[in-house]
Amino acid sequence: MELVRATEAAAIRAVSFVGKGDKNAADGAAVDGMRAFLSTVSFDGRIVIGEGEKDDAPMLFNGERVGTGDGPAVDIAVDPIDGTSLTAAGRRNALAMIAVTDRGAMFDPSAVFYMNKIVTGHAGAGVIDINRPIGENIRALAKAMQKPVDQIIVAVLDRPRHDSLIQDIRTAGAATRLLLDGDVAGGINAARDDSAIDMCAGIGGTPEGIITACAVKALGGFIHAKLAPKDFQEREKAIAAGHDLSRVLFTNDLITSDNTYFVATGVTDGDLVDGVRREKQTITTESIILRSPTGTIRRVTASHLAAPWLLPPQVKLAH
Ligand code: FBP
Repeated sequence: MELVRATEAAAIRAVSFVGKGDKNAADGAAVDGMRAFLSTVSFDGRIVIGEGEKDDAPMLFNGERVGTGDGPAVDIAVDPIDGTSLTAAGRRNALAMIAVTDRGAMFDPSAVFYMNKIVTGHAGAGVIDINRPIGENIRALAKAMQKPVDQIIVAVLDRPRHDSLIQDIRTAGAATRLLLDGDVAGGINAARDDSAIDMCAGIGGTPEGIITACAVKALGGFIHAKLAPKDFQEREKAIAAGHDLSRVLFTNDLITSDNTYFVATGVTDGDLVDGVRREKQTITTESIILRSPTGTIRRVTASHLAAPWLLPPQVKLAH
């Protein structure tokens, strides 16, 4: 529960930048908020997935130690905002998130930025294979879910690299839900029993894939992934780091422990949780917490007195 305060702080700090067109400022504010709270959590935390090259962030970097140093030794993946562009544009579905597992249990992608992934609920286990054409996977999932193929809905990031994937999904008879950004939420929705999404497929961030795997463990879902270097240079780097690019990564390869914790707080309203609300001196947040040891899904709505330390320096409280 201490960790939810870190994602709440990230979301609250970022909310002043929603719709202001500056994604780096929003991300920077979220990083500050998250880092301040992480330093108070009683654990010996090591950031395995931090703010990467893409965000050019000086804090919460890979290898940084966070927490008080007491308590359990853990690996941490942070994404102070998944959906920085969504936040800057004032769009839905931006989330602040943290995933935690036992020390040494988190796959380290060594700077391979992209990963091909398929995420489904538990029905996908044993029937989905990322090496097979998407149409075959859709038919296999429909059969396992005892659902007609034309009722299967697949979430995909709306990117030119997915043009043929999107076409193939539709040719198979299924429907797409195109995501502007935020494939962690897409994956979680695919793994949840109570969502309209049956599958999330395509190439997205590797960090997001590992965070998704933590959540999927708690939801009892399924994930298959393969590293997908974006160019020759990244490919060479991955091979030099010892990665086998043909290897299919299962949930247990991405996270080897069964002890995972995932928490996300809404920055903007979304399919998973509502975004931050500000009313005079009160700020309300909604978070979702998933724990694998118990398989619990917990939703936390919190009201915070709008203390100055929760807000970015340039935002003045109305007294
Ligand atoms: P950021 O908020 O860090 O920019 O990530 C958003 C996101 O959409 C992720 O959810 C996704 O995995 C990744 O970007 C996809 O990368 P790209 O935008 O380069 O296709």
